Amino acid sequence: MSKILIATYSWSGQTAKVAKKLAQLLDGAETYEIAVAADTFDSDMFKTDAIATDQIKNNRYPALTTPVPEVSQYDLILVGSPVWRGAPATPVHTFLESIQGFSGKVAPFYTDAGSANGFEDTFKQWAGNLNVLPGHEGSNDLAKWLKELN
Ligand SMILES: Cc1cc2nc3c(=O)[nH]c(=O)nc-3n(C[C@H](O)[C@H](O)[C@H](O)COP(=O)(O)O)c2cc1C
Repeated sequence: MSKILIATYSWSGQTAKVAKKLAQLLDGAETYEIAVAADTFDSDMFKTDAIATDQIKNNRYPALTTPVPEVSQYDLILVGSPVWRGAPATPVHTFLESIQGFSGKVAPFYTDAGSANGFEDTFKQWAGNLNVLPGHEGSNDLAKWLKELN
């Protein structure tokens, strides 16, 4: 049986809910919260958007405050993120960068307010040499997606 890690960044809780559902479907999967210091973003969405845009522009991605697990033990890592301006949230960049030596598979899942366009392309770009599988948008049909990944 393959060993799975569910690694999730969630700014306002929606993606975390999907991660929880995935963990229930994947009995035995381990979870990891991708987290950054509380003052990294703002409680205001537009300010947060401006901060993230700046980070991308200046290639200064936020440090993670939760130690990244030893990923070599996993076969598959599901990476959760909200869609921010058609891209993953910037803490996900830091996470993907930190697991560049991982030789297993990686698949993104993401939530948005209706337009995810470009998310998976940017995710793949940020994933560098990682082996990225097709991702999943939203909170429906999770079991079907998981089946397709195997
Ligand atoms: C900075 C920022 C940028 C966003 N950009 C988009 C976007 O481009 N497209 C979209 O559909 N929703 C966008 N949203 C909405 C979030 O993707 C959506 O609310 C998501 O479900 C939040 O997930 P979370 O609760 O896990 O943080 C944005 C939200 C924030 C805070």
